[in-house]
Amino acid sequence: MSLPPGSTIGIIGGGQLGRMSAMAAARLGYRCHIFTPEVASPASQVAAQTTVADYTDHEALKTFAASVDVITFEFENIPAASLQLLTSLKPVHPSAEVLAISQDRLDEKNFLNSIGAPTAPFAAIETEADLSAAIATLGLPGVLKTTRLGYDGKGQAMLRTPEDAAAAFNALAPKPLVLEGFIDFACEISVIIARGADGSITSFDPVENRHKHHILDLTLAPAPLPLATLAEATRLGRLIAEKLNLIGLLAVEMFVTASGTLLVNEIAPRPHNSGHWTIDACPASQFEMHIRAVAGLPLPPASRHADAVMKNLIGPDDMADWPAILATPGLIAHHYGKTEARPGRKMGHINRLFPKGSLPGEFGIMDALKHK
Ligand SMILES: Nc1ncnc2c1ncn2[C@@H]1O[C@H](COP(=O)(O)OP(=O)(O)O)[C@@H](O)[C@H]1O
Ligand SMILES: [Mg+2]
Repeated sequence: MSLPPGSTIGIIGGGQLGRMSAMAAARLGYRCHIFTPEVASPASQVAAQTTVADYTDHEALKTFAASVDVITFEFENIPAASLQLLTSLKPVHPSAEVLAISQDRLDEKNFLNSIGAPTAPFAAIETEADLSAAIATLGLPGVLKTTRLGYDGKGQAMLRTPEDAAAAFNALAPKPLVLEGFIDFACEISVIIARGADGSITSFDPVENRHKHHILDLTLAPAPLPLATLAEATRLGRLIAEKLNLIGLLAVEMFVTASGTLLVNEIAPRPHNSGHWTIDACPASQFEMHIRAVAGLPLPPASRHADAVMKNLIGPDDMADWPAILATPGLIAHHYGKTEARPGRKMGHINRLFPKGSLPGEFGIMDALKHK
């Protein structure tokens, strides 16, 4: 059953992912109602309605649910009790089960391994003794992470020597933690999959992601890798979406090792920063696919009419270039409507398109993004 135009889509979370989802929804004739603790959030600036309340405020969640036709997320870390309440009131896509798996790195890795999707070797860590034992088995270097609530490299620490263990264990919260073997990857990629209620599925081309200070800096679409590697990434993404019984959008981050093997790093059942290029390079962006999937609309092929490079605009340094970016032909500028450009904060992004098959090499990419 598809939602008719004029219906209201409830979106949990008020950040830029909600903003761009709401813009895509508006184009399809839907209204969006944003639920966020943040006043004047990026999403509420472009939505028909907003509830500003805490994610634990059950009264506010009930009123919100009564005003919408379907509920989705731009942010997956809402408490289980709140999810349960919403699920009892309205259709929720993706489901509480999918969110529960992606909220917890241990559940996520166990699930991935159970369906045959390889990950980095890992061990659950509840005590310092667990950590010593895991270091003995997995070896070092390793990455110690909180199982919940991490993002943009927050909630994790690199362990190079056994002496790093105690300080990292004490600094990271909440417990439990997970220790992962350090993967000396050749590059990082991601793939974004949309899956409808009828089981129909479509996938965007896998892309390469480059990080700076643990925050996504550049996305290259398509990833400049052998076709067999891209096909395997897509196969894994589709497998995960199917085994999750997903209705909605799923981003899967992967490491590509020097020998071309893929290891799944993490999954996110929502639009993803590495899919922002699709707004300008695809007839239906990741945000439109998200809205289509949760609204029960048909999913068109996630095809690409251009190659693309996406660059994030982070903090005051990047935003100082905003006027120059706007003055540069060929740069497609996206601003998230945040007033304060704190260091490390995602403020916007720029896309640059290239004819299909002509994504520039290493030096050309930086040239293509110049704006001074
Ligand atoms: N096991 C690992 N081996 C090597 N690098 C890693 C490992 N885990 C994380 N990283 C690096 O840290 C980045 C952030 O880690 P990730 O688990 O994706 O957390 P988040 O994106 O939620 O902050 C990754 O994109 C990757 O660059
Ligand atoms: Mg990540």
